[in-house]
Amino acid sequence: MNNSLELINITKRYLHGRIEVLAIDRVSLAMRSGEVLLIMGPSGSGKTTLLSMMGCILKPTSGKIKIDEQVVSGMGEAELPDIRKKYFGFVFQSFNLFPSLTARENIELLLRLKGFRKESIMDESQSLIEKVELSKRADFLPHDLSGGEKQRVAIARALSGDPMIILADEPTANLDSRTGKEILLLLRKNAIEYGKAVAIVSHDPKADAVADRIIHLEDGRIKE
Ligand SMILES: Nc1ncnc2c1ncn2[C@@H]1O[C@H](COP(=O)(O)OP(=O)(O)OP(=O)(O)O)[C@@H](O)[C@H]1O
Ligand SMILES: [Mg+2]
Repeated sequence: MNNSLELINITKRYLHGRIEVLAIDRVSLAMRSGEVLLIMGPSGSGKTTLLSMMGCILKPTSGKIKIDEQVVSGMGEAELPDIRKKYFGFVFQSFNLFPSLTARENIELLLRLKGFRKESIMDESQSLIEKVELSKRADFLPHDLSGGEKQRVAIARALSGDPMIILADEPTANLDSRTGKEILLLLRKNAIEYGKAVAIVSHDPKADAVADRIIHLEDGRIKE
């Protein structure tokens, strides 16, 4: 298995007025393709902060981040959007769909942003819709979809452009327990069938069933 993403001795300090918060404290970890990494820990332990740095949304205060052997932690805002588009798919607790666009249109919008050509967008969105088993609901607006279906749209969107790494922050927090399990299994299927590296932040005790590896964060440190 290859390392897709590597964090080396990452620290994140937030400055909140005069108060400094040490959110992540010297964390090192690697994500490998085909593997589901589960990040657990109490509220405030730094899970979202860690995931945001993994996805190059947030810059570490110190430490190094490598993707595909390329050091990205020193890059600036001019280069980072391309890195995010190329390597990452993001899934959030709150789905983040455009309410006036159907499931299919939500997916197509991201394909357009990722630079897909007009001629290929329809085929590509159809194939993503099939991947997440949403064919029957593809032309529904988010309002008319269940929570689990909305999360499937979000996962399809995250898979657009075939990124190496999928990062999901509490993807089942707004779902009932059965639907949550289906969503976790769908994420796992993607790791295995398409060789993605998947990281899931979750409080959900069911999540450990789909994980290959679990790390526990406590006060910004990985607990052994
Ligand atoms: N923008 C910010 N400015 C200052 N402090 C922040 C900021 N974002 C997060 N923090 C602090 O950093 C710590 C880690 O926050 P983080 O959101 O990563 O935790 P979490 O593990 O995701 O929590 P939860 O399970 O509640 O989502 C917390 O103490 C939080 O208050
Ligand atoms: Mg969080």
